Amino acid sequence: MLDGLRRLEYRGYDSAGLAVFQPEQGLEVIKTKGRVDALARQVEGRGGLAGDIGLGHTRWATHGAPSQQNSHPHVSENGRIAVVHNGIIENYAEIRGFLQSTGVRFASETDSEVVAQLLEYYYNGSILEAVTKVLHRIQGAYALGILCADCPDRLIAARKDSPLVLGFGQGCRLLASDVTALIRYTRDVCYLDDGEIAELTADHVWVYDAYLRPVEKERRRVDWDISAAEKGGYEHFMLKEIMEQPKAVRDTLSPRIQDGRVVLDEVSFPKNFLAEMDRIAVIACGSSYHVGMAAKYILEKLLRKPVEVALASEFRYCDPIVTPRTLALVISQSGETIDTLAAMREAKRLGAKVLSIVNVVGSTIARESHQVLYTWAGPEIAVATTKAYSTQLAMIYLIGLCFGEVLGTLPPGEYAGLLAALQRLPDQLEEVLSCRERIQYLASVCFNHPSVFFIGRHLDYAVGLEGSLKLKEISYLHSEAYAAGELKHGTISLIEPGTLVVALATCRPLFEKTMSNVVEVKSRGADVLGLTTAPLEAAMGQTATYTLTVPETHPLLLPSLDVVPMQLFAYYVALMHGCDIDKPRNLAKSVTVE
Ligand code: G6P
Repeated sequence: MLDGLRRLEYRGYDSAGLAVFQPEQGLEVIKTKGRVDALARQVEGRGGLAGDIGLGHTRWATHGAPSQQNSHPHVSENGRIAVVHNGIIENYAEIRGFLQSTGVRFASETDSEVVAQLLEYYYNGSILEAVTKVLHRIQGAYALGILCADCPDRLIAARKDSPLVLGFGQGCRLLASDVTALIRYTRDVCYLDDGEIAELTADHVWVYDAYLRPVEKERRRVDWDISAAEKGGYEHFMLKEIMEQPKAVRDTLSPRIQDGRVVLDEVSFPKNFLAEMDRIAVIACGSSYHVGMAAKYILEKLLRKPVEVALASEFRYCDPIVTPRTLALVISQSGETIDTLAAMREAKRLGAKVLSIVNVVGSTIARESHQVLYTWAGPEIAVATTKAYSTQLAMIYLIGLCFGEVLGTLPPGEYAGLLAALQRLPDQLEEVLSCRERIQYLASVCFNHPSVFFIGRHLDYAVGLEGSLKLKEISYLHSEAYAAGELKHGTISLIEPGTLVVALATCRPLFEKTMSNVVEVKSRGADVLGLTTAPLEAAMGQTATYTLTVPETHPLLLPSLDVVPMQLFAYYVALMHGCDIDKPRNLAKSVTVE
């Protein structure tokens, strides 16, 4: 269990715990605030924990601060039922009040503890029946693992809106919220769907619906290599994943380019759907949303259809204008982000066709969308996404070319030119990565700036958003991204001597416009780190304090190259600050709570 928890550390957490059933002592629970290593030391301190069955958990605090008491597993008052929970029980206050009125004393401030206490309340000799009663009573999102001392040969699992995967190992059955925890023990897995309950013994798994009627589940085979989830000699997963981008982009592109054409076998729409499509609504969160921002410029240019980009957390509550002629383009690395999932369901309910771009095979968003395009980035472990971003962007180009051909909206010669440039992209990414020492040097010069502004126009603006997010996520420096032309409407008041401005000016037709903004900040004392293409380096160098370049490519492809120096800059700045780069504070890799 400790090994499984270590493999999930990348997802972000603040406390950890274990419950093991020991034949003599019953349920033994060890919990701690902090890292899995601290938990392992406590286990060692007690001379180890022997047992055949148990539950482990890492918690990312929502209700109640990170603390030993608030960590999972939570145990019912009589000490006989242990529960781990991902998600949020929305009606926990009402249930807690009810249980307290019956005399139950709570040990934590969490919403999750109500599940353990309510199980004890309903338990009448059958843990499965108690679970169904609890599930009918609780509202919210959950992936639950349950262990009852009265039936110590089995675990019970249940899910709604939070991922849960079952593993079929040699003489053991496992459950986890992420396949990464299981891969060392088995590649045979099955994903639970919403509303399902599973019962696992060492050699058997039964899956039921909410009324305990048996459900047949399909097993899947996970085919990625375990070494993909190891550091392979790099100091951090983030750097490894940055360096893997040429391969990840190549793996995403090449199976879909055949005989000089983009072929998206996975996608088929009813006849005329694309021609009659009224808009594309891109739905995503975080960096995936930033891919959406770039997609707006790229797809509007190639398809001549309106593209609206929405933050999933806003889209789901804004009464969105969606029709059966709308294409909802859902972008998610994990395929489990709760806001993205909920927004996707809303778009589907309103009649949209849903096409998703997802990295994790078999994830909920992949399973629930009408069509899915997988990015073949492989497992991404660092919380701050890099190779998933790059492969999502690569997929946008494939969609632009494929749909553009169907719609006939690409100018003559554009298809072949863009496709040829796209095929050169992995080699050009190698070229950008080979300049990382220069970026490391610039990071060493700039890392002490307390506040950083990223400016750019058009696609450079979209990349600036991602560059700024990368920097703040892992280095904890304050940073903001602005459309360069917007700076003068307020933000320029924050520019003073010593402020660092990262100016992205790779977009040739807008170079002079952005340079005007660079001059404006420079004349107010800012230090400017300018990013442009090789032919414009000298022009940039006349004003900027420092310059960085990327090779020339088709203008729409520039974000793919531009983002790499931004990732490396953030990485090296964070390194100089001594930050926990792969597991930045307060962040989680996959956000399965609202
Ligand atoms: C979290 C991660 C981000 C990611 C976002 C969306 O906040 O830390 O790196 O961009 O979730 O995740 P998704 O898996 O839906 O792309």
